[in-house]
Order: sequence, then C-alpha cells, then structure tokens
Amino acid sequence: MSITSLPLFGYHPLIQSFTILLLLQAIVVLQRTTPQQGERKKQAFSAHQWLNLLLVLPLFTAGASIMWYLHDQPGSGHFLSYHGILGTFVVVAAWIQAALGAASVWWKGKLVGGEAKGKALWKWHRLSGYVVVSLFLITAALGVLETTWGWGKSGVLQKTGVAVALPLVGFALLIRVQRSKLPKL
Ligand code: HEM
Repeated sequence: MSITSLPLFGYHPLIQSFTILLLLQAIVVLQRTTPQQGERKKQAFSAHQWLNLLLVLPLFTAGASIMWYLHDQPGSGHFLSYHGILGTFVVVAAWIQAALGAASVWWKGKLVGGEAKGKALWKWHRLSGYVVVSLFLITAALGVLETTWGWGKSGVLQKTGVAVALPLVGFALLIRVQRSKLPKL
C-alpha cells in the first residue's frame, strides 16, 4: 500500500513514531554538552529548541488530533484505552514542558523573574523532560500492546520487538544523563 492511499488512521502511528525519533534526537544532541564547549553548546541548544518547537510539538499534536477527530465520530468515544488517556496527557505535558523551557531562556528569563531564576529552573526542566520522553515511549508501547488495533494487527515478533526495543531506547537515553545536572531529590 502506498503512503498516499493510507486511511486517515494510518498516519497516526507513522507520525507519532517518527516524532518520538525527533524528540530523542532533540534531547541526545544536548545531553553531553558542557558550557566549556562554547559554540557547540549554543548550536546544540538551538537544535533542541527549534526541533522541539517547529517539529516535535506540531507533529505530536497533528498525530494526536487525527485520533481525537476519529474518536469524535458517531459510534466511537474518547479515552477508551490507557494508550489514549496517557497519549492525551503527555501531548499536553509536552506543550507545558516547552513553554516553561522557553520561559526560562527567552528574554533572559524575564518571564520567570530573571536570568538566575531561569537557569535555576533548567534542572527541573531536565527532570520533567526525562519523565515526558519516558511517558511517550510507554504510550507508544501501549499503542501496540494494549489497543485492539495494535494487539490484533501485530504478530508475536512485532509485539516482542516493541516490548524489548522501547525499554532499551529509554535505558540508552537515561544512562547518558549527567546526574549532577538534575535536582537533588
Ligand atoms: C517537548 C518539549 C521538550 C522536551 C521533552 C525537553 C526535554 C529536555 C531534556 C530531557 C533536557 C535535558 C538534556 C540534558 O540532559 O542535558 C532539556 C534541556 C533543556 N531544555 Fe528542553 N525540552 C523541550 C523543549 C524545550 C524548549 C522549547 C526549550 C526552550 C525554548 C527548552 C529549553 C531547554 C534548556 C534551557 C535546557 C538545559 C540546557 C542546558 O543543559 O544547558 N526545552 N530539555
């Protein structure tokens, strides 16, 4: 089947999977940078900011809107699965994450009380960012392992692949975290 002849639903898993890759990229690019790296750090931050604002948020919202629209049709309903509930929650959480991230940097953190206060927020933005990305990975796994469509249409190999690959991705991301940059809990 060609990509242009997919039913509307078919674009939902495609867009959301692709966008998870973009989000991972937007985080990985920044993860191991240090202020001593000067220009490289600036470029990494710019990639983080613009990938998230121009691609990740619009694409996650478009992908989720497809399902919100389809589940608005007669005979269907919203919040039928944990996948749908968590998916809705995490898309909203991603917008809040980005808004607070932006408020902590734009206009030298003026919106949050100045540069020092903005920088102090970064460690919380990092922590909540790792929670948000983990929730996206769990949502994707639930899409295959929980929903009627995912459960019915995927074979044992695909289900096992998802059950192994997504936790591995989360693990690979989390072991790269510089713990000293996170808040002391
Ligand atoms: C979906 C949206 C977003 C998510 C999930 C997210 C997630 C993250 C994560 C996980 C980190 C930590 C990376 C590390 O270990 O160093 C981080 C760092 C950061 N993010 Fe975001 N982010 C998002 C959007 C944004 C936006 C839109 C901005 C600003 C316009 C922003 C500003 C920052 C800043 C200032 C840091 C710390 C930079 C540093 O370490 O020097 N984020 N973000």
